[in-house]
Formats: sequence, structure tokens, C-alpha cells
Amino acid sequence: MEVKTSLLDNMIGVGDMVLLEPLNEDSFIMNLRNRFDHNEIYTYIGSVVISMNPYRSLPIYTPQKVEEYRNRNFYELSPHIYALADEAYRSLRDQDKDQCILITGESGAGKTEASKLVMSYVAAVCGKGQEVNKVKEQLLQSNPVLEAFGNAKTMRNDNSSRFGKYMDIEFDFKGDPLGGVISNYLLEKSRVCKQPRGERNFHIFYQLLSGASDDTLVKLKLDRDFSKYNYLSLDSANVNGLDDAASFRTVRNAMQIVGFMEAEVQSVLELVAAVLKLGNIEFKPESRVNGFDESRVKDKNDLKEMCELLGIEQSVLERAFSYRTVEAKMEKMSTTLNVAQAYYARDALAKNLYSRLFSWLVTRINESIKAQAKTRHKVMGVLDIYGFEIFEVRDNSFEQFIINYCNEKLQQIFIELTLREEQEEYIREDIEWTNIEYFNNAVICDLIENNQNGILAMLDEECLRPGTVTDDTFLDKLNTICAEHQHFESRLNKNSKFLTDHSLPHSCFRIQHYAGKVLYRVEGFVDKNNDLLYRDLSQAMYKATHSLMRQLFPEGNPAKVNLKRPPTAGFQFKASVGVLMKNLQTKNPNYIRCIKPNDKKVAHIFTDSLVCHQVRYLGLVENVRVRRAGYAFRQPYESCLERYKMLCKKTWPHWRGPARDGVEVLLTDCSVPTEEFAYGRSKIFIRNPRTLFTLEERRRACLEDLATLIQKIYRGWKSRTHFLLLKKSQVVVAAWYRRYAQQNKYQKIKSATLVMQSFIRGWKARNILRQLKYEKRCKEAVTTIAAYWHGTQARMELRRLKTEARNKRAVSVIWAYWQGTKARRELRHLKVAAREKLAVSVIWAGWQGTKVRREYRKFFRANAGKKIYDFTIQRIMQKYFLGLKTTTMSPMDNSWPAKPYGFLEGAHTQLRRIFHLWRCKKYRGQFTEEKKAVYEEKLEASEIFKDKKALYPSSVSQPFKGDYLEIQKNPKYQKLNSAMEEKVLLADLVNKINRANGKGSPRLFLLTKSNFVLADQKTGQVKASVPLPDLASVSVSTQSDGFFALKLKEGSASASKGDFLLSSEHLIEIITKLHRIGTTAADRDQINIDISDEFLVQFKQDKVCVKFIQGGPKNGNSAACKRKNNRLLEVSVPSP
Ligand SMILES: Nc1ncnc2c1ncn2[C@@H]1O[C@H](COP(=O)(O)OP(=O)(O)OP(=O)(O)O)[C@@H](O)[C@H]1O
Ligand SMILES: [Mg+2]
Repeated sequence: MEVKTSLLDNMIGVGDMVLLEPLNEDSFIMNLRNRFDHNEIYTYIGSVVISMNPYRSLPIYTPQKVEEYRNRNFYELSPHIYALADEAYRSLRDQDKDQCILITGESGAGKTEASKLVMSYVAAVCGKGQEVNKVKEQLLQSNPVLEAFGNAKTMRNDNSSRFGKYMDIEFDFKGDPLGGVISNYLLEKSRVCKQPRGERNFHIFYQLLSGASDDTLVKLKLDRDFSKYNYLSLDSANVNGLDDAASFRTVRNAMQIVGFMEAEVQSVLELVAAVLKLGNIEFKPESRVNGFDESRVKDKNDLKEMCELLGIEQSVLERAFSYRTVEAKMEKMSTTLNVAQAYYARDALAKNLYSRLFSWLVTRINESIKAQAKTRHKVMGVLDIYGFEIFEVRDNSFEQFIINYCNEKLQQIFIELTLREEQEEYIREDIEWTNIEYFNNAVICDLIENNQNGILAMLDEECLRPGTVTDDTFLDKLNTICAEHQHFESRLNKNSKFLTDHSLPHSCFRIQHYAGKVLYRVEGFVDKNNDLLYRDLSQAMYKATHSLMRQLFPEGNPAKVNLKRPPTAGFQFKASVGVLMKNLQTKNPNYIRCIKPNDKKVAHIFTDSLVCHQVRYLGLVENVRVRRAGYAFRQPYESCLERYKMLCKKTWPHWRGPARDGVEVLLTDCSVPTEEFAYGRSKIFIRNPRTLFTLEERRRACLEDLATLIQKIYRGWKSRTHFLLLKKSQVVVAAWYRRYAQQNKYQKIKSATLVMQSFIRGWKARNILRQLKYEKRCKEAVTTIAAYWHGTQARMELRRLKTEARNKRAVSVIWAYWQGTKARRELRHLKVAAREKLAVSVIWAGWQGTKVRREYRKFFRANAGKKIYDFTIQRIMQKYFLGLKTTTMSPMDNSWPAKPYGFLEGAHTQLRRIFHLWRCKKYRGQFTEEKKAVYEEKLEASEIFKDKKALYPSSVSQPFKGDYLEIQKNPKYQKLNSAMEEKVLLADLVNKINRANGKGSPRLFLLTKSNFVLADQKTGQVKASVPLPDLASVSVSTQSDGFFALKLKEGSASASKGDFLLSSEHLIEIITKLHRIGTTAADRDQINIDISDEFLVQFKQDKVCVKFIQGGPKNGNSAACKRKNNRLLEVSVPSP
């Protein structure tokens, strides 16, 4: 949410001078100083902004500041130039009111800076987009160009604008900039030729010489050294903080952005160079016969270079500096120029050239920045024009007079517009209008601009008058005509009042401007007003080939010779001021009054006298008075209520009704006297600043109370929160502590208990131990005693036993010895007896054996031989049968073990035959019907061909496939297959032998039960179909070829074409099948198979003999057939 603030917040002094109490010059300046010391350079007088030049960059122009002031009400934030710019821009955009921003102030007060700040603010807040940005950029970049050509360093300002500028920026209905128009006023052209001490010529001269490249300078015939040029003052050529070279680049860049063509920039620089060259042309007198001096150009080099630069004939220009053509009564006369006149002419040319160039630049920029769209524009004008100029040391001359006149006019419209605005607001707000007393400076304007007796009119009259005209005659005229005017003062005035006024010299007059008295010296008035340029010079310039030069001097065109004098400078200025005033009057004015705080161009110094002087002549105190005439301060009800609502209980903190009622309640409650304020439609008007300050004071006090209240509540809240936190913490700490204490106590009790427990347990244990030890000792004592006793007993027993044993052993040893002796004696006896017994039995057995053998010899010989024979035979047969086991079951297997014994020969052969028959039977038993048929065919083939045809053995291993063409499946023979009425038994590719040459051509050979067919191999078209009954016989050779002849029955239907001589790889199969079909068909004769190496074949009419010979020429493995003669075809069959 945006924070609502007010100008009145944190004010240093007063932000708006209308609130100043008491209001006088001193308090006014004090307030300015106070604010200036606190870096507050802006102060308001109502809607007027006073701007003090800080002479240093302040951080108040940042993009953040732009955002801060954007769309905020004027009085909402502390005074700032952005507030004014924002107000003007929003009023233009939202209320469709044309605006003008009038910036005034003396030289160096910051007008130009202010105008740039306004422009940059508007550029920042208005719309964006490629086109809009380009326009903005062009408008902003016009400034550096104009500043380079129109600004110069002066004693008062290092970047002083030496021309007045008014720029209209045009916007569309959305507030986007469309373009602009710049008007310039009265360039101080005298500066081109002469600059006061400590000042410089226009920046562009120095920038060009410092910043241009060597190339450019050569082209322009210039030298970088300033001292080479008479027109450049040297004592202050270099200015602190100004980088001319960098500025030159900036200017060139700006010119490019604005839209200058490269050639145009070049032309402009050439003219600048020409002015410098012109300044270097010097003259010397040359005596003439008539006694007068005539001027001559001293050193022609510069003249020559200048002429080359501009394309002017040197002689023409030279002549124009020596002679002058005077036209009177249609007559032309040439008069010579003396040296002084020549210098005058030179300077006049330089000044005119430069000021015209400047005007051309403005026009050219205008062309670029002109708004394109023809729709109605809203306009914001920015006027940056010199403020009042009063030189105390130097003489005020014609220029100051003109400037001050302009300011007088501006003051007039300021008063007019301020009052008008004030009045309009009163009417708008329905407040009664009270007349305001103020000084109207219309009378001073009239003194200057009155067409009959105004000072400018009289100056023009003097200038145009024939006869001798001098500045003094002009002053005389003033003295007579304006003598009575209360704002005109002159020493020679009849008015005796000034006769003794020594502050008023004789050659001067004084005008009481609204801002103070100014003394003008009349010297130069007539000349400057005339602003004469000899026609010869303008004609010479027109003759230049330089196109821009010609444009600048159109009056030099001989075709347009105008004898009328050109309008005077004063007249022109008055006219342009008139136009400007008219323009400004149609717009809503916004004022920026610039003040410079010191003469030294430094920061932080505030010279009271200087500021006082400016405040006075800008009429600022007067401004405040006008502004405060009715009601000093006004404020919309809403903001007023928002600001002061805390002063009344009914409006605090919220007022629900309309703001106006709220304000009424508030003011009544605060007992503000009714004459102190008035209720407008949307604003409350407060008559006295004091009332406002009282309200502010009460607000401040109230805010303090409120702050105390808020503080109180906040502190209470804070303490309570703190307390609650402490309480909560205390409970937590206590809980933790208690737990800790209890834990400690418990630990202590626990350890004490343990100690006690262990003591008791120890004591008990020791008692038991003692008891046990006692018992143990008792037991041990008993045991020891028993042991001793038992020991004694045992030893006694042992001793007894040992004695007993010794005794026993002695007995047994003696016994053993005795027994041994007895046994050995016995053994010896037995051995003798046994030897005697064995000898008796051997002798007995030998005798018995001899007896048995003698008895059984005859029985053994009769039976043993047969038994051994049977057994041996049985073993041999067994071995023989086991040996036969290795034979395989294949009927083809011819192997049979060799016969092992001669006596098995017959059985061996029989066994082999029986076994073979048996395994053949087994083999046949596995056959299917088809296989059986195939073997039958094979069998038949063997019957036909075995041992008759050499081809036969090789066919045995080849199975009879029948359908070699796969006629059923092959889509190629689909048509042929369907043409066959019966099942195809054989289909094969054969060669049909041509009887003419013996060569074969491929044919498809098909065989069914009732006929055979020959068909074309490629097309499958049937060539011949022969019923089998028509087939008489088949002839083949005895050799290994595949030729066969199908001989037809004579007289049969098929015989007309003759027999067929064919050859096939499957000859055996084909013939066998043909024979078999012949055999199986009951109603048919059997087909004869004729096997011989020579047979006859009936071809149509003639019979041909086919003869087979062996070992013919070898061309591969196949047999070749050749026609030998009409009756013989010879087939040579390769030897096997
Ligand atoms: N707002 C500002 N902030 C900082 N410096 C400023 C400001 N205004 C002016 N100045 C300084 O003061 C100098 C003079 O200002 P400026 O050229 O605007 O004066 P001026 O009123 O246009 O004078 P003149 O009438 O001679 O053209 C500037 O060059 C700049 O250094
Ligand atoms: Mg300026």
C-alpha cells in the first residue's frame, strides 16, 4: 500500500512559502537559506517551484526518485521539480490541458538544467515503445546540439545559454510524445566577434578545434591551435570541468541521432570554419587620389582559404570588403569602405553568418522532430529564457533591454495567469472572490512596446529616419517623449527630479522595472537594432557554391532585390515575444523560478545579498502575496481529514461519512474560528498559515500522545510476552531441577542401600564361611585320623600278604621246575612213539594204493573218453553261435563270419542262407504299400534292364521319384496340370531329338495311366498327347546313354507325326513305368522293350536308323547325337 504523506511532514523551514509567518523578505530569504543548508533546493510558492542551484550533483534525480514522484499529488511529497513535471504531465494527459513550463532566473541559476530535468522526467514516465523511444531520444538529443552552438562560457556560467529557447513537446491522446517544435530567441551574436574578458566564444569553435580528427581539420583548412584565430578569446579558452574534445563527439553523435545527414554535418562545420577564417581577415588602408583611405585585405591567405572552403570567387569577396553599393532613386553608386568600415562589414558578416547558421540548425532540428501524425496534439511547452539581466559593473545595453522587456512580459502573464488560476479555483470551489491588490506591470510593458510612443517604436523610428542618426539623437527623442512616464528616468529629462542624480549618467536612461531599476547606456542601441549587413556581402555569399551558404543568404539573390529595409532587431523580437505570449496564454502555466546562491559557482555558499537581489527582481515575495491574497492554503477534504482526524474523537480512527462532513466536524471540534476557513466543493480553504500551523502543532502533540499510547500498549504487550516467556521458562527449569534433585536423592539412597546390603551380606557370608571352615577342618581331622588308621591297617595287611605271597611263589617255582622236568621227560617219550606210528601208516597207505589201482584200471578206460568228448563239442558250438552275433540286420550286408571248423561247413552255409532270408523278411515286413510299389517298379526295372543296358547299375541307387517337376505344386505348371485329365504318374524334363540335326530341345514329359504327353517347357503348352494303346514299342541302346525311341503303332491316330526320339536322365524309370502301365492294363498289348545299339525310327515319311557307338567325342559326360546322313543318326556314348 502506498504511504500517504504530506509536504508538511518533516519540513525544513516551510516547504511552501505561502505558509511563511511572518511574510517578509528577510523571513523569505532565511527560509531559503535554511532549506538550502539542508540540501533542500526546491521550495514551493503554491504551485510555483523555486529552485536553488546547488552547484553539485545531488542524489535526487535517480530513477527511484522518478518512481517516488510518479502519479503522486503535488503536495504529497517534499518539494521537487519532479512534482511539478508530474503535475503538468498528468494534467496534460488526463485533463487534456496544454501546459507550459516557464523557467526563469538569472544566468547560471539553473534554468537549462531545470528544463532538461523536466524533459527527462516526462521522458521517463511517458509511454514506451520503439517509435516513442526514438522520438524521446531525438527530443533529448536536440539539447547537446543547440548547447554546442548556442552556449558559451561566461563569467556567470560555464555553460551559459546565449539564446532563448521555447520548446513545444507534442503528445498524443495517450500521453506518448509525438515530436516537438523549437523556437529560438535572440542569439547573442556579438559574442562571435568579441567576448568580454574571462569569457569564451560559443562552445562549438573550441569543440571543433579540440575534438575533430586531423583529417577533418585539414579538410576544413583549420589549425588546432586556438591562438591562430582572432575570434577566439584565449585567456579562458580552457574551462575547468569542460572536455571540449569529448563534447565534440557527443555533439556529432547527437546530430546523428537527431537525423542530420553526414553531408549536412560537414556543411555546418565548414561554415563554422568559415567564421573562424573570416575573423582572421585583416585590412590595411590604401590612400586614394581623392584623399580618402580605402581598405585592402592585408594577408590574402585566410581569405583565399575561406573562399575555397565556401566556393566563393575570391575577387568578389575582396571587392565586397573594399566597396559598398548604395542604391538611391534607382541609381546604383559604389562607395569605397575605409578600414574601420571593412572591419565592421567583416564582423557583421561573421555575426550574421553564425546567427543564421544557428537559426538553420533550429529549423533543421524541427524538421527532424516534427510530429508525424496529423491528429490533434496536446502540447507541453518548456520556456528556458534568460531572466532579468542587470549588470552593475558592465553597461546594460540593447540586449539587456530586450531581455528585460521579455521578462517584464513574462511577469505580466505570470500575474495574469496566477490570478486567473486562483480565480478559477475559487469559482470551481464555489468560494467568494475577494479582490486582490497587486502591482500590475502592464504600464512598464506599455512604456517599452507601445506602438506610438514606446521605446522600441521610437528606436525603430530613429533607425529608419533619414539624416544623421546617432544613439544620442535616440536618447533625446526618449527624453522628449517618455519624460512624463513614471517608470522612465533620465538625467536630461525635463523632470527636474533627476537633474542632480549622479548615479544616472548623461548617456543613459533608467527604467523602473517591476523587479527594480535598471540603467541602460544608449551606445550601440541604434546599430544593434539596425543589424546591418551590406548587400554586396550578402550577394557575395549567395554566389558561393556551398549550398547551405546560399540558403542562409537568400536576400543576396539578385533576382530578388528588395529595396525595403529588413525589419529591425527590436521589431523582430517584439513580434516573436508577442507570438510567444499569445502561445503561453492558451496554456496552463507552471513556473520554475531559478535562483543562484552565489557568484562563485561553488556549492554550499549562500550569499544573502545575491539571493535577495534575485528574490526581489523575480518578484517572489509579491508572488506569495498574490497567492495568499484570499486563502493561504487549500487542501482536498480527504487529505485534510486523513491528516488531522486524530484531533477529534469522532473522526478517530475512522470517519464513515463523506470527507467534507468529517472535516466540518473536525474543525468545529477543534474550535477553529469560522472566518479562518471556507468550505469549497472539494477542498477546504484556510485563510491563515497560522491556523494551519496550529492544526499541525496539535497534530504533532496528538501524534505524540498517540505514539505514547502505542508505546504503552506495545511496552505492555512486550513485558507481558516477556513475563509469560519467563513463567513458562521457570516452570520448565523447576521441573528439570526437581527431576534432577530427585534423581540425585534416589542415587544416594540406592548407593547407601547397596553399601548396607553388602555389609550384611558380607557379615552373613563370613559367618557361614567360618562355620564351613570349622566343619571342613573337622572332616579333614576325621579323614586324617581314619587315613592314618587305615594306613596302619593296610600296611599291616600288606606286610602279611607279602610274606604270604613270597611263600606261595617259592612253592610255585619249585613246583614249576618239577613239572617242567616231568613234561620234558614225557615229551621225549611221546616223540619216539609218534615216529614209530607214522612209519607204520605210510607203509600201509602205499600198500593200499597199489592194491586199489590194480583193481579199478579196467573201468576208467570204458567211460571217461565219451564224457570228455561231449563236453568239448558242447563248448565249441557255444563259442560258434556267440561268434555269429556280430552280423548286421541289413539285407545288403554280405558279410558272414568265416567257417571256424571244417565239420560245420554245411551248417554254416545253410545258417547263412536262413539268416539272410529271415532278415529280408523282417525288412520287407516294414514296407508301406507305396514303398512296396516303388520296389516292385525297381524289381521290374531290374527284370527289364539288368545286364542288358549299361545305364542300369547307376539307376539302382536312385529312387523313382515320378513327379520331378512337382507339377502339382509349381504354379508355373498349374495350367498344364489342370489340362491333365488323370493323375500324372511321371513328370520329367526330356530332350526331344530333332531328326534334322540330332540336337535336342527341352520338353515336358508327362505320363498318366492312359497316355503320355509332350509339352513346351516354357509355356506348358501341350505339343503332343499320345494314348498309350498307340504306343507299339520302346527302343533303347545297351549303353549308358539316356536315348529312347517311342515307336507308335502304324495306322494309329498318333502315328501321323512319326515316332519320338527322346533322351532323359531318368530313362530307366520312364521305360519301367511305361512297361508297368502296359503290364497292368488288361485291355492293352504289352509294350515291347527293344534293347539294341541300332534301331529304326519312323520320322513322318522316312525311316531313320539310330546307331549308338561307344567312345565318341567327349563333350562332357552325356551322349551326343549327330545326323550323319538322311538315314542315319549317330549317337556317340562316352566310354564308361
Ligand atoms: N539542479 C542542479 N543540480 C546540480 N547542478 C546544477 C543544477 N542546476 C544547475 N546546476 C549547475 O549550474 C550550472 C548552470 O546551470 P544552467 O546552465 O542551467 O544555468 P542557466 O540558468 O541556464 O544559465 P544561463 O542563463 O546562463 O543559460 C550548470 O552547468 C550546473 O553545473
Ligand atoms: Mg541556460
